[in-house]
Amino acid sequence: MKETLLKMLLERDGEFVSGEKISKTIGCSRTAVWKHIEELRKMGYEVEAVQRKGYRIVKRPNGIQAHEIQSGLTTKKIGREITYFDSTSSTQVVAHRLAQEGAQEGHVVVANEQTGGKGRLGRAWHSPPGTSIYMSLILRPQLPPQRTPQLTLLAAVAVVKGIKDVTGLTCEIKWPNDLLIKGKKVVGILTEMQSEPDCVHSVIIGIGINVNQQKEHFSSAIRNIATSLAFEKEEEIQRSQLIAAIFAHFETLYEEYIEHGFSRIKPIWEAYAVSIGKKIYARSMHEVIYGTAKGITNDGVLLLEDELGEIHHIYSADIELADQE
Ligand code: BTN
Repeated sequence: MKETLLKMLLERDGEFVSGEKISKTIGCSRTAVWKHIEELRKMGYEVEAVQRKGYRIVKRPNGIQAHEIQSGLTTKKIGREITYFDSTSSTQVVAHRLAQEGAQEGHVVVANEQTGGKGRLGRAWHSPPGTSIYMSLILRPQLPPQRTPQLTLLAAVAVVKGIKDVTGLTCEIKWPNDLLIKGKKVVGILTEMQSEPDCVHSVIIGIGINVNQQKEHFSSAIRNIATSLAFEKEEEIQRSQLIAAIFAHFETLYEEYIEHGFSRIKPIWEAYAVSIGKKIYARSMHEVIYGTAKGITNDGVLLLEDELGEIHHIYSADIELADQE
């Protein structure tokens, strides 16, 4: 009931909703409506009550608990089940466990803080409380394992679109899955899977977004290479609203992908990609290759042409933009 009330008030976006309308919609007395409003206030919502006009939300807390995300959710599947933690080791680890225990496609693990956040290539993902988004989405696509990198690219597109909707900011994608604003990292995506050689059991897409940090929140090691949405926009961003927007785009793109394949997603990804056509260094565990990024294959593999004209297929690497000649 509280969720329906919250949804009604949030949908009206600061406009009044009469007590009568609320009590009819959620099927309770006016006194019960007033009690629910008191509960919302205790949860940190500032609710204005005016006689003969009703109630409206003046300010909402910047939380990311399930009800806060779900009150703005428009999806059928993605985010309909949310497991929330004030603090956990890593949402990836929890999502793997839930997937093994049979969690449905679309189930998302969200945390306000991670004590052991994981980045790509075995790195740590610094995950302090209160300012960021840390979430892991469980998918169960019927795909061969080699096609799952496509889902990372799809996720990057969904996040770019969600950020654009909520903040108006435009991100660029650096292959395979870093989102940048003015060359600084604002989002990291880590895709992992549980599979057998020819069959995927589940894909876990972990998304970390720098939302409301100011410069001083970043350690000196990353201050010059990382940024946040609030820093770029110069205003605080509602994290739950952003998550709901990302889920909406993810679901649309994912349905398109399942029905029509990667060919519909690839051109959208390419339109946002910063490295294509540029001189880059691709650093993997064993080597560094310098050349021109020519594009991606249908499997999401980066094609890099070296100075001798040889084309390299890059499956996993760190990309650095070189000085362009
Ligand atoms: C990267 O190295 O760029 C990928 C970072 C991915 C971080 C996210 S935060 C949510 C999820 N849980 C984790 O432990 N990692 C991913």
